Amino acid sequence: MGSFFYIFFLISLALTSLTNGDAHLIQKTCKTTKYYDFCVSTLKSDPTSVDSDTKGLVVILVGVATANATATSTFLSSESLNATKDTALKEVLKECSHKYAYASDALRASAQDLASEFFDYANMHVMAAADYPNACHNMFRRHPKLIYPKEVARREDVLKHLCDVILDIIDYLGVN
Ligand SMILES: *[C@@H]1O[C@H](CO)[C@@H](O)[C@H](O)[C@H]1NC(C)=O
Ligand SMILES: *[C@@H]1O[C@H](CO)[C@@H](O)[C@H](O)[C@H]1NC(C)=O
Repeated sequence: MGSFFYIFFLISLALTSLTNGDAHLIQKTCKTTKYYDFCVSTLKSDPTSVDSDTKGLVVILVGVATANATATSTFLSSESLNATKDTALKEVLKECSHKYAYASDALRASAQDLASEFFDYANMHVMAAADYPNACHNMFRRHPKLIYPKEVARREDVLKHLCDVILDIIDYLGVN
């Protein structure tokens, strides 16, 4: 009789952790990062995050960052910006578009690294991805007459926040 209740207890414990445990995993994982609220809201915007383990969560964030970098690359080569007659600006926008495409490639590579649990390589690729926006920003700095567009600054900020959060979680995965 005693062991029947013990087994029942174990089963309900297992069910509880299946249904409730995962909701806390997002919070627990995001607590290891510099931007808790940003991390939680980004993960909650993906419905598959509730069924994910910590590695799954960081892979979701890498996917969001990849999409962000690609969208910015596209934005930088878009017609509206490209309509400028300023040849220096045209050239810088084109280079910036390439940098964000490289950032996207680096993030894709980091997703592969994570799948293989090569956390050092994953870290290295995300650091590279976070650095490409600097290369873009620096090109604007080198042309004193060019103004760094607000929208590009905003997108740079989002991508860097995403990369920071990802790097913190990879660190956490690497030691746990
Ligand atoms: C970029 O990331 C932000 C923050 O998570 C998100 O709100 C936005 O939808 C993302 N954009 C793309 C194109 O993925
Ligand atoms: C701008 O548009 C022209 C013509 O549509 C295209 O050839 C060029 O590659 C575009 N530049 C950028 C930066 O996308």
